[in-house]
Amino acid sequence: MDERVLRQTVTDLVAPSKGILAADESSRTIKRRFDSIGAESTEENRRAYRSLLLTTPGIGDYICGVILFEETLGQSDSNGTSLPQVAEAAGVVPGIKVDKGTVPLPGAPGDLVTEGLDGLAERLEGYKQQGARFAKWREVYNVSETLPSQLAVSANAEVLARYARICQEAEVVPIVEPEVLMDGGHSIGRCKEVTENVLHAVFEALDRHRVMLEGIVLKPNMVLPGGDSGQKSTPEEVADATLTVFRRAVPAAVRTINFLSGGQSAVESTANLNAINTAKGEKPWALSFSYGRGLQAPALAAWGGQVENEKAAQAAFFERARLNGLARDGQYEGETTPTTAD
Ligand code: 13P
Repeated sequence: MDERVLRQTVTDLVAPSKGILAADESSRTIKRRFDSIGAESTEENRRAYRSLLLTTPGIGDYICGVILFEETLGQSDSNGTSLPQVAEAAGVVPGIKVDKGTVPLPGAPGDLVTEGLDGLAERLEGYKQQGARFAKWREVYNVSETLPSQLAVSANAEVLARYARICQEAEVVPIVEPEVLMDGGHSIGRCKEVTENVLHAVFEALDRHRVMLEGIVLKPNMVLPGGDSGQKSTPEEVADATLTVFRRAVPAAVRTINFLSGGQSAVESTANLNAINTAKGEKPWALSFSYGRGLQAPALAAWGGQVENEKAAQAAFFERARLNGLARDGQYEGETTPTTAD
């Protein structure tokens, strides 16, 4: 394993004013997103939509990496250039989602575990040839008074660490994504407790599997109240709870933490990231974004599955990327006219 390749890729993914676009929705998830705007999820529509995101003029000013779904790696823009090449040409490092989704964790009712380790090393060789330089794997944790179980916390950490080490052997930077879900009626305090417990287990497992921490990207949830709790925390409260947990659980050797948006509105996810970056206190890592919905919701709504709306969709995407670029630097000043789908 050549550590220099891993370090260089992380360096390319850590830049002021920039973050990562998650455009790696699985076939089921992208169908749900397209259903919401009345578009059909055909291969051509998925190509057209993801191609419009990647060909947005100037996008390299705010986006340094893109997570693609396997199908997209083999697709091209309207000029016949492969989409990973389109991304590289725009200064955006192409990456690939490599997990195969979640299944119930046997022996732990209500908990999940992610599949896809078998054959991963071989698959990575193919993805590299198609242009991918980093990978993503997501473990998911349901939250209740009793969930996640300690079994789920340790089983998920083990899988994530095995994935990360397999990627590093292939000189592919692993995005390590433990997502404590926002779904449910839990308090911000419960999310804080679970997130800290999960991160301690993840870093203990990464250490056991000899993962080089300088060669990963951590993609966690922010610490938030559950979506059905009826509670709303201010960006300052979210920043305080989130940073408290990360200072306790994430070693300073990790160069960058790129949050997922996780069902927050586009504006909330930008405001919370900005508060995290303006908060006082020690922050030894870059604190940026790796948003799916947070970056795409307004663009998806503007597109509506119609070719004639492509320019409007690109404008909406560019604007969200710009605002998140400001939030990554702690320079976001809020929005007077919220965009659609907020
Ligand atoms: P969201 O930002 O929409 O949560 O998506 C990010 C992601 O990649 C989830 O795996």
